[in-house]
Amino acid sequence: MAVPNDPQLERPLKPKDGTAGIERPRALLDSLPEDPRPLMSLSSRHVVSSRQFDRDTLLQLFRLAAQYESTPALLHPPLAGKILISAFYEPSTRTRLSFESAWHRLGGDIMSITDARSTGIAKGESLPDIAEMFNNYGDVIVLRNTEAEAIYEMLDSLRIPIINAGNGIDEHPTQAMADVYTIFKWRPELTSPDLPAGKRIRIGIIGVPSRMRTVRSLLLMLAYFASSIEEVAILSHEDNLFDEGQHEELTKAGLSVRVATDLDGELPNLDVVYINAIAWVGDTFEAMGMDMRLSAASPLKKDAIILHPLARGEELSTDLDKTSHNWYFAQARGAVFIRMALLTCMVRRIGEVMDVPDTSRG
Ligand code: CP
Repeated sequence: MAVPNDPQLERPLKPKDGTAGIERPRALLDSLPEDPRPLMSLSSRHVVSSRQFDRDTLLQLFRLAAQYESTPALLHPPLAGKILISAFYEPSTRTRLSFESAWHRLGGDIMSITDARSTGIAKGESLPDIAEMFNNYGDVIVLRNTEAEAIYEMLDSLRIPIINAGNGIDEHPTQAMADVYTIFKWRPELTSPDLPAGKRIRIGIIGVPSRMRTVRSLLLMLAYFASSIEEVAILSHEDNLFDEGQHEELTKAGLSVRVATDLDGELPNLDVVYINAIAWVGDTFEAMGMDMRLSAASPLKKDAIILHPLARGEELSTDLDKTSHNWYFAQARGAVFIRMALLTCMVRRIGEVMDVPDTSRG
């Protein structure tokens, strides 16, 4: 509890870190030619899996996100009068709040469910029936559920679009968008389809692709940009790292993925280090891979960046927060703008709103 004359209360707020300004999104924006046509296909469509996307659509989404991020405020919020149903049947900090922040910034209204026990689920109502009700109350749904099948059980009843905000160990496609958007703000040249071999990056993923939805969706999304990636090293001591066919699918899509166990041996060669230690095991979330940790003493490449998509545990030391490796705060911030871009395209025809960011001040 704060005490009278506590010096912490008198200190001015800390300045924003260097990754939070508008220079980097503006550089990404400038590097991507505008072509709204791929975004048209997102109108009134569900978003469940990274598999539903393609390179051109993602690049235009990143461009629109960069436009939003480099534009402090919108004069004509495009989603005024629209209603988001934010249905989170599992705890969340980043995803729910960034979706809701995105929606507020776009001018819409929100109905938020943060506990399944406050809905008809507590009385045995079925998911298809809940979906039928959602049709009447909102314009788009964002769903987080611990059960992988839940979103699929709702699809047939839905007449409004739904976004998968994490379904068990299956997928979390908009987190993957936020991850790749962060990588491209760090190095906009990676969006080039013919990057010279010497400029391709090496990515290390500390995690378990078969048990972590963020990792599963990220790998699928990275495959669209395989020509900019020398290889992905999966760093883990766990068994059964891949589901049947998962590794083959990525290889077939052109992504070079190998498994490694020597973290300190790999770190000096990695440009991006993605670390996630939360996995769904049995019927609960558990810390997994705690034998692989990052700290300021880790042998990171000088220019390497670290991404961390979920709640932090002991796997990521806070002594990295003030270093140039910390891109995980930028990753969480960028999630707002990539979700603004996606929501705009899903709820409005993009041709109607493409000029919106240019009408702002700043
Ligand atoms: N990225 C993510 O899924 O985090 P939350 O669980 O805090 O939403």
